[in-house]
Amino acid sequence: MLDAAHRPAPVGAAPVAPPLLEVSNIEVVYNDVILVLRGLSLSVPKGGIVALLGANGAGKSTTLKAISGLLKTEEGQVTRGEVRFAGERIDGIDPHEIVRRGIFQVMEGRRIVADMTCLENLRLGAFTRSDGDIKRDIEMVYSYFPRLKERTGLAGYLSGGEQQMLAIGRALMARPKLILMDEPSMGLSPLLVREVFGIIRRINAELGVTILLVEQNARMALSVADYGYVMEQGKVVLDGTAEALSSNEDVKEFYLGGHGAERKSFRNLKSYKRRKRWL
Ligand SMILES: Nc1ncnc2c1ncn2[C@@H]1O[C@H](COP(=O)(O)OP(=O)(O)OP(=O)(O)O)[C@@H](O)[C@H]1O
Ligand SMILES: [Mg+2]
Repeated sequence: MLDAAHRPAPVGAAPVAPPLLEVSNIEVVYNDVILVLRGLSLSVPKGGIVALLGANGAGKSTTLKAISGLLKTEEGQVTRGEVRFAGERIDGIDPHEIVRRGIFQVMEGRRIVADMTCLENLRLGAFTRSDGDIKRDIEMVYSYFPRLKERTGLAGYLSGGEQQMLAIGRALMARPKLILMDEPSMGLSPLLVREVFGIIRRINAELGVTILLVEQNARMALSVADYGYVMEQGKVVLDGTAEALSSNEDVKEFYLGGHGAERKSFRNLKSYKRRKRWL
């Protein structure tokens, strides 16, 4: 029997737009030997917010770096499969060129330049651009993060929340089509987490920026995302609409249970039976 992917499209059906980002069956190896991603596939539609969830070490950051090309800086390589953005293959190309095409990664731990000012950090975000609208875009960033405008000192002295806002603001300066966000809630108070996620939602709705969001805070991620993937040991083990994932018993137990602080790891369980439920 033909599976869904090979069935001919029904006559008269509207053509389906290809996803903005399509990761197909990629393998990633670090230092030529450490196999971290083992056939990972996911796709992100234009204008969507997609969450990528998973326990520590599952390979979430590696997935984002495989897309942004930053793997190269860590001796990592996509050894199988492909990454397509706007229909074109981008695996293996230079990270600067990937930024130029419209993908910007906000790294885990914010990675702003501590001994530069906020404004200088924002200008850095525009490094691949040659058009003259940079001043206007800085004002646009300040409209999302008014606090940054008041901070004239070095970025290293900003609070954790302000540094996260600066990291997102710097991404916006590149005028990206797709932002890859790695754990934007990390280290922030619950109040700031809500504020940052509110801004992520606005950036998506008002600027039309597509977002792939890696998060430990699954509840928050699924509250803003349309769709989500759960990964474990380098592979996707479950995916579905944010609504379906939020009501999935396993996701509830492992990611949404308790108070979020002591989330269990899938990996530490003899979970064959449990995993079978979604394999
Ligand atoms: N530069 C590297 N060299 C070798 N191994 C690496 C490197 N970066 C990550 N790894 C390994 O790859 C695996 C996945 O790491 P990754 O950082 O992608 O996971 P993660 O899902 O983002 O985890 P976390 O939730 O802790 O951020 C881990 O076992 C990690 O030790
Ligand atoms: Mg990570």
